[in-house]
Amino acid sequence: MQALLFDKGKIKRSFSAAAADYDRFAHLQRQVGDVLLARFPPRGQPGRVLDLGSGTGFLARRLMAMPGAADVVALDIALAMLQANRRLNTDAVAYVCADAESLPLAADVVSHVYSNLAMQWVERLDHALAECRRVLRPGGRLVFSTFGLHTLCELKAAWAAVDGHTHVNRFLSADEISAVLEKTGFHGHTLQQQTYCCSYPSVLALMQELKAIGAHNVNQARKRSTTTPSQLQRMIQHYPANADGSIIATYDVLLIEATT
Ligand SMILES: C[S@@+](CC[C@H](N)C(=O)[O-])C[C@H]1O[C@@H](n2cnc3c(N)ncnc32)[C@H](O)[C@@H]1O
Repeated sequence: MQALLFDKGKIKRSFSAAAADYDRFAHLQRQVGDVLLARFPPRGQPGRVLDLGSGTGFLARRLMAMPGAADVVALDIALAMLQANRRLNTDAVAYVCADAESLPLAADVVSHVYSNLAMQWVERLDHALAECRRVLRPGGRLVFSTFGLHTLCELKAAWAAVDGHTHVNRFLSADEISAVLEKTGFHGHTLQQQTYCCSYPSVLALMQELKAIGAHNVNQARKRSTTTPSQLQRMIQHYPANADGSIIATYDVLLIEATT
């Protein structure tokens, strides 16, 4: 599969910078995390659970409270996110600052890998999923949510009317993700797709939220020079707005359970 050519240094910096404010803005992330756990709760004997791209620990907290999770490993590439996560203040969570594409864990050591809205940030999904497969015990499960192809389609289309640069990250389709799961040795998987239409008072409010949660454009092909006020204004004019100026942003959410 093709790498998405992300700037990993920028991913670390953006999420570390967002750590302090993340919880105030991450409403959608919490909503999706709750749906993910309700649809695919931990099963079987209590075991070690890896929360991949744990951020400030929303999912880790929920997992700790559920039957089936004896102890939790919270892993994230951004150190400041893990430092915020440590507010959990319990011995039942181990913190690991590492890249999901190269896990510093032995093979066959976790019963579940959970990940909420983090996989869309990995450069090579096949590398990240192969790593999940490697650390999962036989019979273990991978449960994750990620953004699908149509996420932020309005913002993407509005920028496309202004210039040919990549302003919004590219998201994989459900078919592409299914193919990677099969290729990386997950024998069976269930994939559910759910569209969230979130309302914002303005395009600028949407952009402010994306920035506050650390969701910057991290494509290597992004426009490096500063966007001018007139380019921004033109993009806003192309974004479909309601009579009161409010806008809708589409999030195409994929919820996936895969077994080894
Ligand atoms: C949108 S946040 C989601 C955080 C958390 N799972 C939640 O539900 O609130 C995405 C997280 O993925 C982390 N991340 C991005 N790329 C990563 C990678 N390659 N390896 C590990 N973590 C990564 C970011 O640092 C960030 O904390």
